[in-house]
Amino acid sequence: MPGTCVIGLQWGDEAKGKIVDLLTQQHDIVVRYQGGANAGHTVVVDDQTYKLSLLPSGVLTPGVTCVITGGVVLYPEKVIAELDELAARNVQDYDNLKISDRVHVICPWHFAEDRVLDKSTSDGENIGTTGRGIGPCYRDKVGRSYAIRLGDMYRDTFRHQVEHNVRVKNALLQAGVDEADFEPLDAASIFKQYREFAERLEPYVADTTEFLLSAAEAEKRLLFEGAQGALLDVDHGTYPFVTSSNSSGVGISNGSGVPAQHINKVIGIVKAYTSRVGGGPFPTEQDNAIGQRIRDQGNEYGTVTKRPRRCGWLDAVAVRYTSRLSGVDSICVMLLDVLSGLDELRICRGYLLDGQESKRFPSHVDDLRRVEPQYETLPGWQEDISSARSMSELPANAVAYVRRIGELVGLPVEMVSVGPERSQTIAVR
Ligand code: GDP
Ligand code: IMO
Ligand code: MG
Repeated sequence: MPGTCVIGLQWGDEAKGKIVDLLTQQHDIVVRYQGGANAGHTVVVDDQTYKLSLLPSGVLTPGVTCVITGGVVLYPEKVIAELDELAARNVQDYDNLKISDRVHVICPWHFAEDRVLDKSTSDGENIGTTGRGIGPCYRDKVGRSYAIRLGDMYRDTFRHQVEHNVRVKNALLQAGVDEADFEPLDAASIFKQYREFAERLEPYVADTTEFLLSAAEAEKRLLFEGAQGALLDVDHGTYPFVTSSNSSGVGISNGSGVPAQHINKVIGIVKAYTSRVGGGPFPTEQDNAIGQRIRDQGNEYGTVTKRPRRCGWLDAVAVRYTSRLSGVDSICVMLLDVLSGLDELRICRGYLLDGQESKRFPSHVDDLRRVEPQYETLPGWQEDISSARSMSELPANAVAYVRRIGELVGLPVEMVSVGPERSQTIAVR
């Protein structure tokens, strides 16, 4: 019965990894069900920092089973590197892992396509993808003719599949680009390399849909770890400046194969401000000294690509939209400590579009580009709050800021985070 899901409610990097790690202790199984190595989830345990892209953030808790379902796009070399790193750092039980045989495999042509074909939208604005082959792999999954799933790699037909794909992809890439940008791919070496990956991953391969359905029916406690953020959802986000999977709450069942009846709690993760990596509209962006201050204070540089993240004020219109879309029950307000020392804080409570005030999040990016955020200003606090462990230890202005976020989003605040470590967390009662 108990299934909990953690969903980012902004444009990613809301500190989902920290909350998943914390909640893992109360669960039996942790599930990554969409996205791929575009994700970078940070978990800090004691003085050790772990950056996870494909392995669920539950891997650091002994005895928990971690599952990567068919909704994920898997780059085998990366998951192997993560497993090797955990082994080198003596993390116990890291091999308590199941990877779906339905998972779609990212191949070298996907990186090439991401680099040369998916740079920008038709109007020329850069999407700014992570370059990890995510969009091209999902495109092949939906297109079917050139897709490769993990289960295919153990069949006699795999060599033919690689040869067939390389022939077509080489022709497509060569036709589409400047020769200098693309070196033709070699089927024989790709086949050999991927056969080695397949061998290495064989102990983990499973029918995770069946495994999770049986686990849910046996009342095991499942924790679903969303990747990216709901505003990057391919159907409901700021299209086309999105990722290629359903990263809002609507993606839990299609990615994992576990129906909604087994999910009884959705926790929304919200940064105390907003960050975004890559292109696309961002109404509350502060491309100024305030944004730079937040970036410096919050160390807002991408976990995966190291790009500086764009920073700005919290957008309650956007978060209210994504929390409704994701069926969120309560929220966690993260990185509150980053805002210490600012005289005033702003929260966007409405948009002005064509002279009309509205709380609707626009469905077209052209409209989102045109909205003027309507801010509410709150007093800041000067104190360092990183050692606060209860709401009563926070300055009154910090408490008021958190309460106002809850009011504007329309949901209870369950936790407040004041630093990257497990202990730097306040349970709100
Ligand atoms: P995710 O992708 O949502 O898991 O988030 P990332 O790991 O990409 O980015 C969150 C960053 O903030 C990581 O470096 C975390 O270690 C860090 N972090 C998490 N919670 C806090 C917090 O409350 N305060 C501060 N200062 N950093 C935090
Ligand atoms: P986590 O799980 C922040 C962004 C990219 C780009 C867009 C499309 O760590 O929160 P893609 O490579 O997916 O085709 O890129 O999505 N993006 C993320 N931004 N956090 C992430 O993951 C992201 N994953 C993708 O920057 O704008
Ligand atoms: Mg991240």
